[in-house]
Amino acid sequence: MESNDPRPPMKAIAAYGGLPSRDPAAFAVVDLPDPVPSPHDLLVRVEAVAVNPVDTKVRSGLPGPGAGAPPRLLGWDAAGVVEATGDAVERFVPGDRVWFAGDISRPGCNAERVLVEEAICGHRPANLSAAEAAALPLTGLTAWEALFERLGLDPEGADAGRSLLILGGAGGVGSMAIQLARRAGLVVIATASRPESRAWCERLGASHVVDHSQPLAPQLAALGLPEVDTIANFSDTDAYWPVMAELIRPQGAIVAIVGNRAPLDLNLLKAKSVSFHWEFMFTRPQFHTPDRGRQGEILERLAQLVEAGEIQSTAATRLEPISPENLARAHALLEGGRTLGKIVLAGWEGVGGPAAAHAAELMANPT
Ligand SMILES: NC(=O)c1ccc[n+]([C@@H]2O[C@H](COP(=O)([O-])OP(=O)(O)OC[C@H]3O[C@@H](n4cnc5c(N)ncnc54)[C@H](OP(=O)(O)O)[C@@H]3O)[C@@H](O)[C@H]2O)c1
Repeated sequence: MESNDPRPPMKAIAAYGGLPSRDPAAFAVVDLPDPVPSPHDLLVRVEAVAVNPVDTKVRSGLPGPGAGAPPRLLGWDAAGVVEATGDAVERFVPGDRVWFAGDISRPGCNAERVLVEEAICGHRPANLSAAEAAALPLTGLTAWEALFERLGLDPEGADAGRSLLILGGAGGVGSMAIQLARRAGLVVIATASRPESRAWCERLGASHVVDHSQPLAPQLAALGLPEVDTIANFSDTDAYWPVMAELIRPQGAIVAIVGNRAPLDLNLLKAKSVSFHWEFMFTRPQFHTPDRGRQGEILERLAQLVEAGEIQSTAATRLEPISPENLARAHALLEGGRTLGKIVLAGWEGVGGPAAAHAAELMANPT
């Protein structure tokens, strides 16, 4: 392992389930021993994190503080600096500034230091602050994989002029998808239900914005686009299933990222020979797929696009420091379902306090 400096024990913020985010017991500072990199891991000092719906969803399923089960470190979206590398690491050295979403089957980034496999990590854009950068990895990977790998659209413009309906344009994933799709030359119809979310989608480059609180078919017909070539659903898969079947053109393609609650009627897509794709950003890291290094490549490409001014940070709300109180605020905001872009937390100054009671539990089971 290559390392620049000795590392003291670190602070982390553990999450407990069974509690509303406003309950002070939902998050707690814990002191943990420094993680030790395996041969292909980077040990990263976390400077900023973004909060995603996956955090609130995982937290809601966790045991409460009284259940005797270990709490969990959430947070899978970060920007930081490499402090040490495993012996087999090739692309990074200590001191590199990096960004990554990580692996949901490992501890999250709500900690001063975290391990990440080098294959799924990228060098972050030099022209963004850590907070601005932390907003992008998870949603950038999701949007990229959804549009360019699942739907098979060309990121560099070979599909220019084809239409894409983005359900949920102003959210974290939608904000990245709008930018990537417009850059690829697609006709982007994004949905937003409020003046501020509409303006946000327009600013990111949507060709048209329609209101998802109203029926979509007449709005699309009024735009002269009664059917679309592709649909990216970044919202409720169940609720939009029949709507998508109506709006997609024959032989079109749909991608969704939110699991369905009830069985879906696949027959609705048969007459039009429509293809349906799932996108789950954690598939590659979680199943350790041989092509998981694609995520490192996508992050390197996204950094180039940001540095070239072609993609902008979607950080809209910045909270400091990375504390239990601010994580609770961020979770509450996200649970409201109305955020624009991303909520990011930055810095560790002033975060602390005795937490030895939980530390032993976490050491026994760090996930
Ligand atoms: N599979 C994956 O890999 C993956 C990755 C990331 C996220 N996800 C999931 O995808 C979903 C979206 O994630 P996110 O981070 O983009 O969420 P988010 O940032 O919380 O999304 C907030 C946005 O949702 C919009 N919205 C609310 N109700 C809507 C509706 N009925 N139809 C369309 N849009 C609606 C809101 O727009 P208005 O304010 O204009 O109403 C708001 O701007 C979450 O369920 C998340 O867990 C999955």
